[in-house]
Amino acid sequence: MDNKTPVEIMLKASKITKVYGKTIRNQVLFDIDLEIKKGEFMSIIGPSGSGKSTLLNIIGALDRPTSGELTIDGKETTRLNEVELSDFRNRSLGFIFQFHYLLPAFTALENVLMPSWIMNKSPSPKLKGRAKELLSMVGLSEKMDSKPAELSGGQQQRVAIARSLINTPPIVLADEPTGNLDTESTSQVYELLREINRELHTTFIVVTHDRRIASKSDRIVEIVDGRVQKDYPTDAINDEGFWQEAYPIYCKYCKKYEEKRK
Ligand SMILES: Nc1ncnc2c1ncn2[C@@H]1O[C@H](COP(=O)(O)OP(=O)(O)O)[C@@H](O)[C@H]1O
Ligand SMILES: [Mg+2]
Repeated sequence: MDNKTPVEIMLKASKITKVYGKTIRNQVLFDIDLEIKKGEFMSIIGPSGSGKSTLLNIIGALDRPTSGELTIDGKETTRLNEVELSDFRNRSLGFIFQFHYLLPAFTALENVLMPSWIMNKSPSPKLKGRAKELLSMVGLSEKMDSKPAELSGGQQQRVAIARSLINTPPIVLADEPTGNLDTESTSQVYELLREINRELHTTFIVVTHDRRIASKSDRIVEIVDGRVQKDYPTDAINDEGFWQEAYPIYCKYCKKYEEKRK
């Protein structure tokens, strides 16, 4: 009997709910069902307070759902204990946050190697080599020995991206990774994430409030008031047939369609 998740599915969430507070209950997520294929690049968009970060934190095993099941990379994370969970996180997940949380006293290279220090291992020469490769990949081969304060915001975020990839995670979660950057650095960072997605087949889930940026991913999931309101592939955005058929159902508020109709 084989009841493992098929390899092509990287993540499956079933009926995820989240309630904050005991005396005053605040339900933030309602029956979220989500399936993500291996190598997919997905954006989660939605208004502020709609539950995007809560969902991403649950997916990233940084928080537990109130109910529901979550299977990532073949592991049912909702059944793991704290020790197993933190081990799973370190091995299988990479994180990129809006504020990069680089340690100011350490160089770019040391920051990229930080996850291995956290796992109480001093980095092997092989791992150091990988860190250097990753820094080159994000265009910072000249800046390996620079401290964060000597780097621009976009460069700092690129160090954080390299750091998220050091353990070769099959899945990277990013919460508003460009929320703090100017337009130019924002598109550069997105291009970079897409490149990593293509080259390393890393699955990406990226929370953003920027619809234009989200349209560069494979798929957009829109969360409103803790529910999946829309879920559609971005190539559909450029497909006129899709718009004619699906517009009344999915895209009532979509500016792009309005622009097209003009
Ligand atoms: N740790 C927490 N305790 C209580 N309420 C929380 C907590 N984190 C988030 N919330 C509430 O959950 C809702 C969704 O928040 P969040 O997931 O951060 O939204 P988003 O990332 O879409 O802006 C908000 O109403 C927020 O106040
Ligand atoms: Mg958020």
